[in-house]
Amino acid sequence: PAAVGSAGVGSTGPAVRPRRLRVNPVIRAMVAETSVAPRQLILPVFVAEGLTEPRPISSMPGVVQHTVESVRKVAVEVAEAGLAGIMLFGVPTDEHKDAVGSAALTEDGILNVALRTVRDEVGDATLVMSDVCLDEFTDHGHCGVLTPAGVVDNDATVEIYAAMAQAHAAAGAHVVAPSGMMDGQVGAIRAALDSAGAADVAVMAYGAKYASAFYGPFREAVGSSLVGDRRTYQQDPANAREALREVLLDVAQGADLVMVKPALAYLDILRTVRDSVDVPVAAYNVSGEYAMVEAAAAQGWINRDAAIVETLTSLRRAGADVVLTYWALEYAGRLHS
Ligand code: PBG
Repeated sequence: PAAVGSAGVGSTGPAVRPRRLRVNPVIRAMVAETSVAPRQLILPVFVAEGLTEPRPISSMPGVVQHTVESVRKVAVEVAEAGLAGIMLFGVPTDEHKDAVGSAALTEDGILNVALRTVRDEVGDATLVMSDVCLDEFTDHGHCGVLTPAGVVDNDATVEIYAAMAQAHAAAGAHVVAPSGMMDGQVGAIRAALDSAGAADVAVMAYGAKYASAFYGPFREAVGSSLVGDRRTYQQDPANAREALREVLLDVAQGADLVMVKPALAYLDILRTVRDSVDVPVAAYNVSGEYAMVEAAAAQGWINRDAAIVETLTSLRRAGADVVLTYWALEYAGRLHS
């Protein structure tokens, strides 16, 4: 017989047979390098103002805009399922949108109301997280305030984010997640939280966030008013080195976790980031990635359950410690074996 280690094919066949480790489910499970646990998943949810019942989002089958009452129930399910947390996005009515996103700061703004409600309900049983960004609250749909020339004003926006993070902490957020890609946002938010006595509130920074077509369904989910794109602040999909630069800046400014977003078209970025920083890394499996699987599955073109498990596994394999996914509850319940 050929010596072990030889790849040669002799009369007895190959000496090395990797398939031996795949012969049955038990041995495959034994040697699996990667697993996805509910404790590593975060469920993003949308809470809309002025709804009397949850409203389906057509481009995200199975996902709805919640009422304040229905999000309370979802938060309990999230805690009971053992998920890491729930990430809240607020959807104000059109009357409550303005040029500077005022409703992001007020106590009765929809996101602050939702945060308070959810935190009251779950306590510390799961993490209550918030999106720190103005795009849902501005009537022009940009992630910040605009200069007279119509450009997003970085430093003025960062000041508002800092106040927004304080409002979220006061409303009960355990973790705030700045997603606007303004320069200096993490440092300003960290300082604002600390000065407000919220030193224990963690910052999960959207470190590497690309200007992506895969956010398409999210724009429907939050009733976005945006015309145009976010390419002056979100990253160019052509760039990888820049992602590392962005992430390192966030870590230097005090980010407790950093995120890569979107996920599937950016697995190289995820791997690089995981290998380059010491903080936990999150990946956001975004709305368009969800919609692609759901749409193909609805046509009978793809095995939905297998595609979901494969997607989440691939993100963990590429280096994500934590994954944000709209399938989090379903995975923790039916698909987690
Ligand atoms: C900004 C924000 C966006 C998403 C999360 N936070 C939209 C954007 O940057 O345009 C996208 C999430 C998704 O597509 O699932 N508040």
